[in-house]
Amino acid sequence: MSQLLTPVRIGRALAPNRLVMAPMTRSRADADGVPSDLTVTYYAQRASAGLIITEGVFPSAMGKGYVHTPGIETSVQVAAWKQVTEAVHAQGGRIFMQLMHCGRVSHPSLLGGATPVAPSAIRPEGQAWTPVGQVDFVTPRELSVAEIAGVVDEYRQATRRAIEAGFDGVELHGASGYLPEQFLSSGSNQRQDAYGGSVANRARFLLEVLAAMVAEAGADRVGIKLSPEMNYNSITDAAPQETYAYLVDQLRGKGLAYLHVALFGAAFDYHALLRPRFDGAYLVGGGLTQDSAEKLLAEGRADAVVFGSAFLANPDLPERFRVGAALNTPDRNTFFAPPTAQGYIDYPALAA
Ligand SMILES: Cc1cc2nc3c(=O)[nH]c(=O)nc-3n(C[C@H](O)[C@H](O)[C@H](O)COP(=O)(O)O)c2cc1C
Repeated sequence: MSQLLTPVRIGRALAPNRLVMAPMTRSRADADGVPSDLTVTYYAQRASAGLIITEGVFPSAMGKGYVHTPGIETSVQVAAWKQVTEAVHAQGGRIFMQLMHCGRVSHPSLLGGATPVAPSAIRPEGQAWTPVGQVDFVTPRELSVAEIAGVVDEYRQATRRAIEAGFDGVELHGASGYLPEQFLSSGSNQRQDAYGGSVANRARFLLEVLAAMVAEAGADRVGIKLSPEMNYNSITDAAPQETYAYLVDQLRGKGLAYLHVALFGAAFDYHALLRPRFDGAYLVGGGLTQDSAEKLLAEGRADAVVFGSAFLANPDLPERFRVGAALNTPDRNTFFAPPTAQGYIDYPALAA
């Protein structure tokens, strides 16, 4: 029997199905990080998801890492997001905002000329997506201990603004080589103070950020995304199994809404390591199909399943799964595009 379309509790939210829309950057905000009317339509079209997680949103201007991404720092941004949450709620949906601080994988041209910040001054390999195209990453500036407290406070304020904008909760982006994972991972963190060295010290920043988000939203409206060994944005860790086991042990007992683990080709079964350590809803993502998702649920390996590109291309994904309809194919050329409707809000739903 299908479990995909049965209800599940995700913290304070009761989702009518177990299909979660993955956080996906779509790069359609304006130069000031304000989402447009197209974004209102895009999320409202996908409100039949059990839960929507938004694209990564920068908590503060220094967290921006890609051209045309949205923020939650200014009152204009808050007002625009409010239209998104109202539209999703009007369609009967639930929506969390993902907070994404890019840290070292940004570029001065996205930061008003400022140097990107990081736990250590180690330049990542690869290129940033800037207003003038792709350019090599620069060497970031190491945050002082006092500045770290400031960044934690930026996440706290962003969480307050997300709740003010009507979000049902917030997700900390702890994956994909962005700032929290830069602190967590031994390859990008060579600090010798309380934020570097031992795994407990490397996890400190992420856990402080999470505590700040919980203080604003309540634990049952806070989730976190992790992607062990994704090794994206030139992130490496010397002992990832130890790192993630320690981290998730610290996440237990806090009453968090969920732990979202997306795996991309790791040889080791991190779900077997992490799921038993966590006590809230466990969300699994990364390359799922209807069949593989159904199997995960049937075997009790996940409480809910996260779909990215399939949700991007199929606004009515739960209904398509219910009736066994064919899926629209995602168009990679329009994943990240200047503020255009094409490949954003023009994927068709099934005929009524
Ligand atoms: C266009 C696109 C943008 C993405 N942007 C983000 C993002 O902002 N934050 C994030 O955590 N993951 C991001 N991801 C990763 C997805 O959340 C998800 O983990 C990934 O797509 C795997 O799921 P899938 O195989 O079902 O697509 C993005 C993926 C895609 C396709």
